[in-house]
Amino acid sequence: MNILTNLTRMWLTRSTKPFIFKSEYDQQLSFKTCSNLGLYVHIPFCKSICNFCPYCKVLYSKEICDIYIDHLIQEIHLVGNQCSDKKKVTSLYFGGGTPALVANRVSEIINALNEHFIITDGIGLELHPDNVTVEILSVLKNAGITKISIGIQSFQNKYQRILGRKIIDIDSIKKALRAVPFETVSMDFIFALPEQTFADLKFDIDTAFSLGANHIAIYPLIDFTFTDSNVKAMPKKEKRELLDSITTYCLNKGYSRSSIWTFSSEPEAKYSSMTRENFLGFGCSATTLLYDQFKINTFDIAAYCKRIDQQMLPTSLTLRFTQRQRMIYWLFWTIYSTKLNSRDFEQFFGVPLKNMYGFELWIAKKLGFLTENNGIYTMTLKGAFYYHYYENFYTLSYINKMWSIMRKEAFPDLILL
Ligand SMILES: C[S@@+](CC[C@H](N)C(=O)[O-])C[C@H]1O[C@@H](n2cnc3c(N)ncnc32)[C@H](O)[C@@H]1O
Ligand code: SF4
Repeated sequence: MNILTNLTRMWLTRSTKPFIFKSEYDQQLSFKTCSNLGLYVHIPFCKSICNFCPYCKVLYSKEICDIYIDHLIQEIHLVGNQCSDKKKVTSLYFGGGTPALVANRVSEIINALNEHFIITDGIGLELHPDNVTVEILSVLKNAGITKISIGIQSFQNKYQRILGRKIIDIDSIKKALRAVPFETVSMDFIFALPEQTFADLKFDIDTAFSLGANHIAIYPLIDFTFTDSNVKAMPKKEKRELLDSITTYCLNKGYSRSSIWTFSSEPEAKYSSMTRENFLGFGCSATTLLYDQFKINTFDIAAYCKRIDQQMLPTSLTLRFTQRQRMIYWLFWTIYSTKLNSRDFEQFFGVPLKNMYGFELWIAKKLGFLTENNGIYTMTLKGAFYYHYYENFYTLSYINKMWSIMRKEAFPDLILL
């Protein structure tokens, strides 16, 4: 697995140099001139912990959570004050953990961000199904949230049991969503669970849209080595058949594919905290992606607060990109949207895409992974499956390695990927 990702990395970056994450950081970040900048805020608290989940989170405690948010607001000002004028940003996403647990403090966080940034394309926030009540949704809506994403995982009791999650109360979700509408209502599902069939997923998809969702995300189960999960993902062939059936079903229904794993029933319904050219991340484990660097905040809540108390950024590791590394990063996340416009690449890097990756694109077309029309590349069903397949390797050899270290050490010296 590592050999495959390492060889691909060497080929595409034209270098044997790995991604080097060092325990260093810039107190001043180079975001002032960035176009297409997004914001991300991480809330690492959950009411119960799911054993399959890799994200940075701890069990909710009101006391620790309030202390954390006070520090998060300070981090926002530490970064935001670096820009004298208000900076235009596209979107803001709250992820976790379970950010809806801090619904009553969301407006305070948004107000802090509004002091430094002008958010143009709306604000998204993740909820656990338990948080989908008229009361919580109203608080979120009044705070300025325009998009919500609910972690359903499955509407079928059998799979909720396998995942160790509670049975979903479909009626109460329906009532709450009817009472408090949002521009985007997205629902998360996990597929490739043991014995899961297309009929199971069709039921999930149909139920989601009938309850008021206009966007769904169907993620393949990823078996991170550091989690306690004993649920094994499905073999490759069955997984591919399932992915192809779900995709064909959604496309035939007229839903558009907004990224590898997401489908929308309305063109304006969008939910993605990942496919952005540059972003600033706030909170534990949040990442920041800029033209020259990628940085990760510490996963440790106490260490995070201590750094902020010293008026220092809570960055744990920084990767300083070579140009080719940045290009690969850009391509990896852009193609996640299943579309790649060569003009966007040229605008971002100042060089034509064909000059840098003409040969690779030619092979991808020959292998039937991509089609091209006037410089716009579109991923085929086959391409989407192999992207997923490669992403799984990437996640298991890169993210798995990094997160398993970051969960144990607040500030590791060095990580090579
Ligand atoms: C932060 S959670 C969503 C909000 C809320 N905490 C919840 O669980 O309902 C983000 C999403 O990641 C997905 N996820 C978590 N662990 C996963 C795994 N091991 N493989 C695939 N998807 C996973 C789930 O679909 C989950 O809804
Ligand atoms: S899946 Fe959601 S609720 Fe479960 S541990 Fe992960 S973030 Fe928390």
